[in-house]
Amino acid sequence: MAKAIKTVSTVVFRIEDLGNDTKRFTLVDQDDWELPPFRPGAHIDVHLDPGLVRTYSLCNEPDDNRRYVFAVKREREGRGGSQFLHDRVEVGQPMSVSLPRGGIALDPKGMNVFVAGGIGVTPFISAIRHLDRRGRSNYVLHWASRGRPVLPDMIASAIEAGRVRVYDTTRQAKPTIREIVGDFTGDGFAACCGPDPMLLAFEEAVASWPEGRKHIEMFIPPKLVAKSDVPPYELFLSASKRHATVTPEIGLLGTLEAMGIDVPVSCGGGICGACRTRWTEGPPIHRDRVLLPEERHNEVIVCVGDCAGSKLVLDL
Ligand code: FES
Repeated sequence: MAKAIKTVSTVVFRIEDLGNDTKRFTLVDQDDWELPPFRPGAHIDVHLDPGLVRTYSLCNEPDDNRRYVFAVKREREGRGGSQFLHDRVEVGQPMSVSLPRGGIALDPKGMNVFVAGGIGVTPFISAIRHLDRRGRSNYVLHWASRGRPVLPDMIASAIEAGRVRVYDTTRQAKPTIREIVGDFTGDGFAACCGPDPMLLAFEEAVASWPEGRKHIEMFIPPKLVAKSDVPPYELFLSASKRHATVTPEIGLLGTLEAMGIDVPVSCGGGICGACRTRWTEGPPIHRDRVLLPEERHNEVIVCVGDCAGSKLVLDL
């Protein structure tokens, strides 16, 4: 069976300093071929260095298939990915990225309400550009920013048309999310990406909404239990025919790393989907925030997963 493509070779075409500690990166194919397609709000894993993979939302419009554009804010207290991109990546440098995945299931007819905090706006930029290109005006973006927002040039026509409300939180109150989404309780779609307090407020505001009408995009993983609480189990990797025992101290991901298995890990907290892996025997314990119920029937997010039985078989 042909091996699935896991990464795409690109080259850094442009780096723009947008101020406010944010840079925008444009990647293109080395020979200017089209890149694999993506959906509005999709993201890619960027392979920065061995063992250093980070996930970013694409913010160009999905119809623009000759580039991947993403923006990164320098996180001085972060885990190193943004610092690496800001300090060590240069134009002309090759860069491997994953196939794009995920995306936002926009409501084609009803209202789409986007709520963003700071750089959390990026998945909504590609969504807005996608809707704009199709001549659709069924969306509104509420965007909280500490000081001048970055990236407004990418949605200039939406701003001009009055479909973007910016809240400069250094001078005015933060948006009241319950009020923002309140008008759309009966229909429409709402999505949020931003800091934890914003996500919590959003989750509460849409708690009674059906799953298909809401979307939460996290970029900081929730705090995990320090150790797994399941008893040891056997791990079998069917493609490489290897066995190991997973103990609570080492965990599933730690065991795979100790076996030298190359699983792309980005967030390490079950929110980006970089480490999704097919399973054939288990069942696994799912602790992620990315897989759909139907995807869990044959996939598991190994950075936070475990096994509910005595043996887990992964297609690795
Ligand atoms: S590395 Fe992000 S979900 Fe596992």
